[in-house]
Amino acid sequence: MAPVIDASGLTHEYPDGTTAIRDVTLSIGANERVAVVGANGSGKSTLQLALGGLVDPSAGTVRYFDQTADAERVRDRLGVLLQDPDDYLFNTTVREDLEYGPAQLGMSRRVADERIARLAADLGLTDLLDRPPFRLSGGEKQRAAVASVLAFDPDVLLLDEPFGAVDARYRERIRKLVISHEGTVVVFTPSLDLAAELAERVIVVGQQGSIVADALAREILTDGELLRSNGLRPPATVRLFEGTLDDEEIPLTVAAARQYLVDERQ
Ligand SMILES: Nc1ncnc2c1ncn2[C@@H]1O[C@H](COP(=O)(O)OP(=O)(O)O)[C@@H](O)[C@H]1O
Ligand SMILES: [Mg+2]
Repeated sequence: MAPVIDASGLTHEYPDGTTAIRDVTLSIGANERVAVVGANGSGKSTLQLALGGLVDPSAGTVRYFDQTADAERVRDRLGVLLQDPDDYLFNTTVREDLEYGPAQLGMSRRVADERIARLAADLGLTDLLDRPPFRLSGGEKQRAAVASVLAFDPDVLLLDEPFGAVDARYRERIRKLVISHEGTVVVFTPSLDLAAELAERVIVVGQQGSIVADALAREILTDGELLRSNGLRPPATVRLFEGTLDDEEIPLTVAAARQYLVDERQ
């Protein structure tokens, strides 16, 4: 599979001497759905910024789309949702924030308006479009930030904790939008439950900012020892069934667990 992101030997040290990521080498293919998981402070956000070309790493390289491009050339193909939505919303109104990406890309006005109307309806933003972003609540801001990343339909989504502040209803809406996104999706999250819902591949960042595992979701999500030793909690269903079911049988999401119980009772 042609890689869309190819990172080699990425290390990043902040000016105060903190080394946030260490020697990260990874390759992400077209249309893969990947979760990058790690405890607080493990370096997920720094890795997201480096993969999104928003920090210049102290060492290493990131190349995009078959190694031919650097971040500047592919900026409009990357949808980078930062952990703090305040860093993302900078226009006078929410509508202008949503229109910004499509306009930069030269998307036709009609297509852009349609996309924005649909996203606003999905994410409960329709009545907030004329408000200044700083007047929104935390959850509303996060929904607006998600909408503005999706608005320009990027080939690659890099989403840092996209659900942090939103309630259950909109979590589900965002989950559906992310799952149905046609392209590559990388979600950075400390939640293995979220990883189970979204990803087919999981990359574990250890507490020192290096990759300690990178495998199919099931393999990582059922490895309680690996997860716990890296400051992570296995998905709820794994905690429920581990030691009772074989790893290959453990349902990874609540929906799968419900189905498992229904099947068992028949
Ligand atoms: N701007 C910064 N300056 C100095 N250290 C930072 C900065 N941002 C993050 N760090 C440190 O880098 C490490 C990784 O942080 P971060 O990438 O935010 O991890 P995560 O997203 O997994 O919580 C932490 O030790 C954090 O304190
Ligand atoms: Mg973070």
